[in-house]
Amino acid sequence: MEFTGAHILSIKQFERADIERIFQVADSMEPYALRRRVTRVLEGAILGNMFFEPSTRTRVSFGSAFNLLGGEVRETTGFQSSAIAKGESLYDTARVLSGYSDVICMRHPESGSVAEFAEASRVPVINGGDGANEHPSQALLDLYTIRKELADRGRSIDGLRIAMIGDLKHGRTVHSLCKLLCLYQNVHVTLVSPVELAMPEAVLESMREAGIDVVISQDLANGIGAVDIAYATRIQEERFASKEEANQYRGQFRLNQAIYTQYCEPNTVIMHPLPRDSREDANELDNDLNLNPNLAIFRQADNGVLVRMALFALILNVADQVDKYSREVTWYNGR
Ligand code: NCD
Repeated sequence: MEFTGAHILSIKQFERADIERIFQVADSMEPYALRRRVTRVLEGAILGNMFFEPSTRTRVSFGSAFNLLGGEVRETTGFQSSAIAKGESLYDTARVLSGYSDVICMRHPESGSVAEFAEASRVPVINGGDGANEHPSQALLDLYTIRKELADRGRSIDGLRIAMIGDLKHGRTVHSLCKLLCLYQNVHVTLVSPVELAMPEAVLESMREAGIDVVISQDLANGIGAVDIAYATRIQEERFASKEEANQYRGQFRLNQAIYTQYCEPNTVIMHPLPRDSREDANELDNDLNLNPNLAIFRQADNGVLVRMALFALILNVADQVDKYSREVTWYNGR
């Protein structure tokens, strides 16, 4: 694909070579993400960071990624603090905000809303999560993490065995990740969820068409027994009609050190898009895993900065100029 000026709305827009290009640029961002060097390559550029749903990692890492490339960030969070609360349409908001920004990241509770917004925008738009639909930058950072973690174990994405656990019906990160895995060979996916929260049929169909070996299970112990990656997710309570309805499913599939030791192969990598729900009745990924070296969740979150820097650099066509506008940092860096 041509990255310059492109919207990033769905994983479906990528081919395998595009993913390789993103990962190659992400690798080159490491000295900047670690603040060993600073670059001004995006000096003067403005990111409009618009998050109409709760977000910590995605919002802050998109903002940090832009700052680390030398750009400025303007942020709107929540409908209450935006003119959408006064009845303004997505079209008008897009027309106006794209005049103030060079690229926009947007998260919104409705499926398809970010694509609608992008149609009216005069600048590239990145989907930071549209309802239960997609979260493409998360899938990219997830796969980037999988690639790195497997490389340390002498493996590659082709041949991957992964279990996805939890709310697979509403989890946009797993929807995007499954679509992304369709670009790879000999992939085995085990889907562990309550029957009512199963992976949507359309995603299953894409995977089967791509030749992915898909196993559907309601048994955590069995599902995590022979995989390279165990990818846990949160019950997406905000997508249920009521909290009570969501509560029925909270805590059904919990991964902790004892379960890990008993059922997982040694060195199985544990991932989660975060936030993990650490309340006692949910606790899908127990704190007793925190010292397990195979718990990759914080490396995964760190990788978000690299991948998001790569997306900005490619979309704004500066991927090859980052070093030219760089210098070493002058301040103490304890990393
Ligand atoms: C996810 C999301 O918002 O879809 N979080 C994230 O962006 N890292 C997952 C979640 O909220 O459970």
